[in-house]
Amino acid sequence: MLHKITDLLKEVSAINVKTPEDLELFRLKYLSKKGILSELFEDFKNVTSSEKKEVGQKLNQLKQSAFEKYNSIKSQLASDEDSTLAIDLTRPAVPYPFGSRHPISIVRNEIINIFSRIGFIISEGPEIEDDNHVFTKLNFAPEHPARDMQDTFYISRISPEDSNPEDILLRTHTSSVQVRVMEGQQPPIRTISPGRVFRNEAISARAHCIFHQVEGLYIDENVSFADLKQTLLFFAREMFGKETEIRLRPSYFPFTEPSAEMDVSCKICGGKGCNVCKYTGWLEILGCGMVHPGVLEACNIDSKRYTGFAFGMGIERLAMLRYQVNDLRLYFENDQRFLDQFRTAF
Ligand code: DAH
Repeated sequence: MLHKITDLLKEVSAINVKTPEDLELFRLKYLSKKGILSELFEDFKNVTSSEKKEVGQKLNQLKQSAFEKYNSIKSQLASDEDSTLAIDLTRPAVPYPFGSRHPISIVRNEIINIFSRIGFIISEGPEIEDDNHVFTKLNFAPEHPARDMQDTFYISRISPEDSNPEDILLRTHTSSVQVRVMEGQQPPIRTISPGRVFRNEAISARAHCIFHQVEGLYIDENVSFADLKQTLLFFAREMFGKETEIRLRPSYFPFTEPSAEMDVSCKICGGKGCNVCKYTGWLEILGCGMVHPGVLEACNIDSKRYTGFAFGMGIERLAMLRYQVNDLRLYFENDQRFLDQFRTAF
């Protein structure tokens, strides 16, 4: 028996275990209930008492070395597994979901970029305004229909029948920011004002009670209508492409004189006519004009020395043209399926 144990000691120390499967075979062969060690301990009962001490010691030595081997290989295999997981460069990367910009933000940023390249700075004003900044100083007559309850969300009205410069309301256009800028600063002024505006409209595919505008204002000595036209031509070509043409149609706004509306040639059909431009070849994108001398004076700017132009455009309108999205409501619902489509377009 002593020989047998000595041979087994050599055998155990020589065994090369490399995989968890081999380790399990090792366990079954030597350490399990029906394994060699149990067998030997069973046989040990029959060893003569003169041999018991020596055989017992050797047997314990075998047991110890088999268990030590088993445990050390087991922990080795476990740490191998951990380290291979940590450095497995062939594993596919976990996809990291990026957010996307809202189409209105994309278009607004583009407008800001274009005008900032020609020296316009951004100014902002409050969404909750007074009648003075939204209407009165912009030369709206007291009975002008835009002041009507139908259009304007009033927060507080001094007299329910008549409008008053101190009435508090949600601004109906970003032109109110030009008043604030002119009140606070003398020319030269070159600024654009992006922002949210509010009108009391029933919500439909073509109208919403909230939308976004960008207002532009340029005031200095000798600013002419030709400057307005060239600035807007530059903008249209940067925004819609080099081939774009513009046309100005006479119009009316209380705060500009003369006033115009600007169309750009339809990019979809190249001016030939399609259902987007309603077969006219042109798309209306903004209102503009030379700032009314009365507006300059109301804001303490000398209208004899200074002239200027202003323009205002709706961001939703430009976004609809750019992305061919024909229902305004989609811009406000924050439906993930809609927003996801702008993931790559920033
Ligand atoms: N405020 C006008 C609107 O909301 C847009 C506008 C037209 C702005 C002409 C201007 C302008 O500055 O000159 O419809």
